[in-house]
Amino acid sequence: MGAGTDVVLRLDAITKRFGGLVANDAISLSLRKGEVIALLGENGAGKTTLMNILFGQYTADSGSVAVMGQTLPPGNSRAALEAGVGMVHQHFTLADNMSVQENITLGVDPLLAPGLNRAAARKRILDLAERFHLAVHPDARVGSLSVGERQRVEILKALYRDMKVLILDEPTAVLTPQETDDLFATLRQAVASGLSIIFISHKLHEVMAIAHRVVVLRHGRLVGEVATEDTDKSALSAMMMGGAEARAPEVSRTEPGRALMELRGVSTPNIGNAPGLKDVTLSLRAGQILGLAGVSGNGQAALAEVVGGQRKPGSGTLVLNDAPPTAWTPRDAVRRGIARIPEDRHKTGTISDFDLTENAILERYKGTPFSSHGWLNWRAARRFADEIIQKYDVRCPGADTRIRLLSGGNMQKLILGRVLEAAPQIILANQPVRGLDIGAVNYVHSQLLAARDRGAAVLLISEDLDEITRLSDVIHVISEGRLSPGFARGQKSPAELGIWMAGQGFADAS
Ligand SMILES: Nc1ncnc2c1ncn2[C@@H]1O[C@H](COP(=O)(O)OP(=O)(O)OP(=O)(O)O)[C@@H](O)[C@H]1O
Ligand SMILES: [Mg+2]
Repeated sequence: MGAGTDVVLRLDAITKRFGGLVANDAISLSLRKGEVIALLGENGAGKTTLMNILFGQYTADSGSVAVMGQTLPPGNSRAALEAGVGMVHQHFTLADNMSVQENITLGVDPLLAPGLNRAAARKRILDLAERFHLAVHPDARVGSLSVGERQRVEILKALYRDMKVLILDEPTAVLTPQETDDLFATLRQAVASGLSIIFISHKLHEVMAIAHRVVVLRHGRLVGEVATEDTDKSALSAMMMGGAEARAPEVSRTEPGRALMELRGVSTPNIGNAPGLKDVTLSLRAGQILGLAGVSGNGQAALAEVVGGQRKPGSGTLVLNDAPPTAWTPRDAVRRGIARIPEDRHKTGTISDFDLTENAILERYKGTPFSSHGWLNWRAARRFADEIIQKYDVRCPGADTRIRLLSGGNMQKLILGRVLEAAPQIILANQPVRGLDIGAVNYVHSQLLAARDRGAAVLLISEDLDEITRLSDVIHVISEGRLSPGFARGQKSPAELGIWMAGQGFADAS
């Protein structure tokens, strides 16, 4: 790197411990102007921790961070921001009840002459939005935005502050493939104008597409550093997993059993901009994985809500074990053996200040074996949590850890364990492997297949066509609330499914 005059950021021997756990072990790293580094590593490898230290949200036990040759005071995000480091967090941090503009300018604009500043701020936001193709409306309330839009706001917020270094912690985990392409186009443009980026993702093809250099962490240590042009996906995955090979589970063919749940001509009202269901008929059969392909925001949420008991069909019939249920709430759904892997694990999956034990029994604490005569059986609960931690390889200090301290992927593993260990009849798996590393993805897939093989019906909702085509025995495409006919495994190529996803097949059919 020669004299290193173009080094924007330097991390020097960063070490961070949480109790006995070494989350970062003497990590050194430098980033050049206009460079994109991908930070790769298994769930819990220490990626977010390192970024939080760089961004001043955590204080390292030792080591230092320098931006443009200036050492930053530790644990001071204000100083990091002022030095030009911006971070888009793994979990969004926007204020829901404020507008896009208020969120972007929060903490930046002096409150003097607010009218004047607001007009100038607005102009700057609109200019940036246009220049970087980040379509969002300054007056929209953040709470009403889709995840893709929220993320654009996060990125605008960084661009607005004129950052030198932008940290993106799993920015694509919540994006549709199209949104990911758009994001990459935006990032390439920002990089061409001199921004440096640290990009975190578990998706190797994305890493290969966007990064100049890949840095691999394993158990808190930096174990490899390689130029993207000198490596490939399998070499990266081997580096990440310490030589172990990532192997996708075998998928056998099975005969489906009877219908455990049917939707007959179900329609639901639209929710805001998101379409409701339009005359949807499908059946979830024992021993079958039904894959729902489609671009997010096309009625998947409505379908998941009907199946999970949060929503009653507006018209049409829901049939459960051959009869319409007399009551239909989430609690009824749980009681009837339906388990949910929720799409947004922070909003609906967990209570962040509860520990792992409490979160493990969250949906079932009222029944056996966790309570009797109104008393909670903590010992049984704790045993259940320990079992999940062990079986699903949830990396954490112990079952009494508050769940918000877990790495993103480990949180997801706990939820999965909670769902699958309850031996449900019907599993509603909504983006089940979002944020998981390759090893964990394979494990979860093998567990969904095992659930199928013991006779459960699985509804798999995913935007990842590879995942859908690999696991599903039957595939339906959803587009604007309409459902395609069911296609048997292998009947349609991904390209053909893509045509349905774009809403084409429906026009042909009508
Ligand atoms: N505040 C904290 N207190 C205790 N332990 C923590 C805290 N923050 C992180 N950890 C632990 O440090 C380890 C590294 O976590 P980190 O979030 O950095 O992982 P990650 O590489 O970002 O993983 P993922 O891919 O799942 O997001 C994990 O074992 C995590 O549980
Ligand atoms: Mg993380």
